[in-house]
Amino acid sequence: MFWLEGAPSHATAAERETAPFPSHRKRGARERDRDPGRSLADDGPSPANSEIRRFMVPSTALAFGTLPRALIALPGVYRPQADTWLLAEALSHERMDADTDVLDIGTGTGVIALSAARTGARVEAVDVSWPAVIAAGLNAFRQRLPLRVTHGDFATRTQGRRFDVVLANPPYVPSPRSRPPPHGAARAWDAGPDGRAVIDRVCACAPSLLRPGGVLLMVHSGMCGPPATLARLEAGGLSAEVTARASVPWGLVLRARRTWLQKQGIAGAGDEHEELVIIRAERP
Ligand SMILES: C[S@@+](CC[C@H](N)C(=O)[O-])C[C@H]1O[C@@H](n2cnc3c(N)ncnc32)[C@H](O)[C@@H]1O
Repeated sequence: MFWLEGAPSHATAAERETAPFPSHRKRGARERDRDPGRSLADDGPSPANSEIRRFMVPSTALAFGTLPRALIALPGVYRPQADTWLLAEALSHERMDADTDVLDIGTGTGVIALSAARTGARVEAVDVSWPAVIAAGLNAFRQRLPLRVTHGDFATRTQGRRFDVVLANPPYVPSPRSRPPPHGAARAWDAGPDGRAVIDRVCACAPSLLRPGGVLLMVHSGMCGPPATLARLEAGGLSAEVTARASVPWGLVLRARRTWLQKQGIAGAGDEHEELVIIRAERP
């Protein structure tokens, strides 16, 4: 276990590995700015982090995809990692209640969807992977939380529907394959040569998926161009910003692609860490 920067957390390693999501605080954006969230780690208030929340992430939470006690992941289903936790943390700052309709795109184990369901919100989760759909359904059953889980591509399965909150931890790892794989575990991370194959589709669909006042929260790597995400969302009439960042060590997939990533100019020779960002977009 090591920390990427600054002060250590007071939690033990075991506590971090089994920690549940932070409890849902119903706070608006202004409150959020005054009181930046703390869940992965606390790097303390400073002028540099008063608007964008920054986090340090323990290495073990990343490489092995540690699984909270109450969660089942079938083989091939994405195990929650730093991107999952960062998105959950961002979600904890949104106002949600029994009148909120939530969509979780690419639900995996259902971990984020269930976090939303715990607030009383009506939550729908969608995934192209059958094992993920089954795992999310099982996890909802075990946790006695209502969750509608559907199988298929998110855009096809939600056509003509609108939500108050849309959540996405899409595949975003740049890959030598020209397209996302049609099946297999890599569907959870491979996203074409620039890592944007699914991100761009989420950006294109977001305006029609959101009700007025609705919010999209999406996490992805700094490697696949947060400015392009903001520009696409804004072109669709949404106001968009980066609201949180976390620096995390490269996992196995990035390490295996080092040479290719360097050749593409996506990574530098000595890179060992990538930045994750939370994009928050709101429909006026
Ligand atoms: C990075 S994993 C995120 C899983 C979970 N939300 C989490 O944060 O731990 C991405 C998920 O998106 C799913 N996925 C990939 N392409 C998709 C698509 N076009 N429509 C719906 N789900 C998709 C994958 O099967 C995978 O479960």
